[in-house]
Amino acid sequence: MEGNIKLTYQDKSYEFPLVKGSQDEYGIDIKQLRAKTGLITLDPGYKNTGSCQSDITFLDGEKGILRYRGYDIEDLAQNASFIEVAYLLIFGEMPSAQILKDLESKIHDDSYVDEDLKSILKSFPKSAHPMGVLASLTSGLIAFNPSSVDVNSEDEMFEAIVLLLAKFPILCAWTHRKVKGLPLNYANTSLNYIENVAHMMFKKPHQEYTPNPIVINALNKLLILHADHEQNCSTSTVRIVGSSHAGLFASISAGISALWGPLHGGANQAVIEMLEAIKIDGGDTAKYMEKAKDKNDPFRLMGFGHRVYKNFDPRARIIKKAADEVLNDLGIKDPVLDIAKNLEEQALSDPYFIERKLYPNVDFYSGIIYRAMGIPTEMFTVMFALGRLPGWIAQWREMRLLNEPIGRPRQIYTGATSRKIDK
Ligand code: CMC
Repeated sequence: MEGNIKLTYQDKSYEFPLVKGSQDEYGIDIKQLRAKTGLITLDPGYKNTGSCQSDITFLDGEKGILRYRGYDIEDLAQNASFIEVAYLLIFGEMPSAQILKDLESKIHDDSYVDEDLKSILKSFPKSAHPMGVLASLTSGLIAFNPSSVDVNSEDEMFEAIVLLLAKFPILCAWTHRKVKGLPLNYANTSLNYIENVAHMMFKKPHQEYTPNPIVINALNKLLILHADHEQNCSTSTVRIVGSSHAGLFASISAGISALWGPLHGGANQAVIEMLEAIKIDGGDTAKYMEKAKDKNDPFRLMGFGHRVYKNFDPRARIIKKAADEVLNDLGIKDPVLDIAKNLEEQALSDPYFIERKLYPNVDFYSGIIYRAMGIPTEMFTVMFALGRLPGWIAQWREMRLLNEPIGRPRQIYTGATSRKIDK
């Protein structure tokens, strides 16, 4: 299927080219639609709209396939480190051993932030949501680092990207330490990226910190699974903010705010809160299934359904298995895991969920693992942000290198027509 597609409007015929992706996906190139016909398209939520052509992530929602730069998510989660995946997403290839060594060493070099950032953190009340704090601290980074990057300079781009990869985990860890009342600390250069995330989050001031390999392995997997997901809400936000030529850090800060919402990254927090509420209410999962199906009840089964996956979410499969392993290995019995499994079992055989193709998504089990690691519920979305950082950077870089035009959708106006003040 190559060629053009015909549109007939007011007895005139127009042709628009078909665009083919490398996985045989087709789209209609409507760049000339308005110029030729005077029409625009209307697609709230962009359910049918491709905002860009991208080489980074492929997903097939029907078949449950997710690939970063051609590598299956299962392969990456099993056989790669998060920082290798970050490099792959951003620069397109798996790093050689030497590139990886240099990258890790550069990240270690940049693993500090300006001490004045501490005063920004200090100004937040302890009760502030960590996602709001993280977005602000990320914006704060702009004040202490070059605010703009010459996107045509490979070196400047590389420097800015490494800087962010190095400093962002510190901000994430500090939002946690603030909530916990722990003194702010820095990375330990003898540890790798993920070990340092754990070290910076969990190290107590009076004790040495020895990373638990079970926790490190699970964290590595979780962050890889979250690392990119093509044009989701926060990534589209990063690309659209970046399209105004706002800087990298400003674009990422906007992405963090988009991720915060419970329909997106905030779902992992919402899932645990939902499971807890069900537990407190006696663990009657059937009652909550009915609530989820009742159109007069705003309750939704959090962690279920996905805009793109209409068969299964491959990340959810990996995470479910990891949740079982982590809880077993750490010897934790968490009643909410049983409630989650009950809900999943009932939903998978319920016509409402089957007809609407609603399956557990990545967030259904991730919170259970985070909890087992001792991460508080309000921090879950921060962990998602940490995982998604390489994807946001990769998408921002791709958009700038393609020199995409500023993102500026149109609308169909439905308000009052011209009127005058009548006094
Ligand atoms: N519980 C109950 N009903 C649901 C649910 C749910 N979790 N999700 C969708 N539906 C129903 C919805 O009411 C609608 O029914 P009907 O056709 O009768 O009106 C139908 O399924 C289609 O739903 P939709 O809201 O039109 O689908 P969408 O593609 O706009 O939304 C979604 C996708 C993820 C926002 C939605 O499924 C949802 O709200 N899920 C719960 C929140 C959640 O887990 N979000 C995390 C997404 S994965 C992490 C990430 O990538 O951010």
